Amino acid sequence: MVWPLGKGRIIRIPLLPVENELPEQARFSTRLIAWQKREGRHDLPWQQTRDPYRVWLSEIMLQQTQVATVIPYYQRFLASFPDLAALAAAPIEAVIEHWAGLGYYARARNLHRCAQQLVTVNAGKWPKNLDQLTELPGIGRSTAAAIAAFAFGQRAAILDGNVKRVLCRHFAIDDFPAQAAVDRKLWALANELLPDSDIEAYTQGLMDLGATLCTRSKPQCLRCPLAETCLARQQGRQAELPVAKVRVAVPERRSTFVIISDGQRILLERRPPSGIWGGLLVPPEGEAGTVLANLGLTLENAEALPPLRHAFTHFRLTLEPIFCLVSKTSNAAEAGMEWVDLAKASHAGVPTPIRKLLKRVASAKD
Ligand code: ADE
Repeated sequence: MVWPLGKGRIIRIPLLPVENELPEQARFSTRLIAWQKREGRHDLPWQQTRDPYRVWLSEIMLQQTQVATVIPYYQRFLASFPDLAALAAAPIEAVIEHWAGLGYYARARNLHRCAQQLVTVNAGKWPKNLDQLTELPGIGRSTAAAIAAFAFGQRAAILDGNVKRVLCRHFAIDDFPAQAAVDRKLWALANELLPDSDIEAYTQGLMDLGATLCTRSKPQCLRCPLAETCLARQQGRQAELPVAKVRVAVPERRSTFVIISDGQRILLERRPPSGIWGGLLVPPEGEAGTVLANLGLTLENAEALPPLRHAFTHFRLTLEPIFCLVSKTSNAAEAGMEWVDLAKASHAGVPTPIRKLLKRVASAKD
């Protein structure tokens, strides 16, 4: 098949053999479902339920985050916010604190907005329709399909990064999957491949295959239920598919973080709701002398600590911490700030690089 893509570019994508004309045993979905039932994952905490609240929460947490990291967060979150009403009624700061360390905090803000929207506009009821699910804050097309399949047993196609890898390899699609035309083709493929029944095992099977066998490096083709028909395997191109994004250099930033201590506690400030680390507690950022002068604090002793690098999606940040032991003057005004016990500060709602930094400080000051 030839796929035109503007300005004379041509993308070649192999035609899918008409799946429903294949013998049942040969079908992509049949082999995947049988494998999932035999060898897939069945004991993940969110697999024991059809409650859309729990399914939704797990799918949002699992975006860009691995299962092993998500499990304790999922359990703590449910213990504090057991249902949609509890989440909608909670202050956003409490929600963000439960997310601290998972990253991509827009997910937590959207989660909260979505809960409030469903409670106020939809009487706390989940829509079952795929398009209506997709309109909710933070729910993209693939997440909506996963919720529809796992909570409502609906026949809907998922297409996250892992599934794209499986499809690009199996059908030897060798154009960069983020191109809009390729993306459209992958969605069409994902829809064509859907089974007539057993959508839960099929959807979980795609996720399990991508996470456990058809991994980015060192895929375990000998154990793969789709190996016989996998074009990448036939052509020996597993390592080169899917085609990697051309890496552009990400900007480097540096910033000073002032770790202000009175000997026992440190001073943290809550970030505004939007922007990086929105809603989380962070030491003040800026030139130490200015920060202390603005707060009316007197410096007793300062010590530069080793820098720490952290990668964000669109830039890298080098945090340059400076530890400042201070005493208060009569006009000290730490408005909007919180003094937090140093030993407990790394467990407060702080982002991951700050947690690392505070742990270092706490163990150095022990
Ligand atoms: N990744 C995305 N959704 C998932 C799920 N339900 N189980 C395991 N991994 C996933």
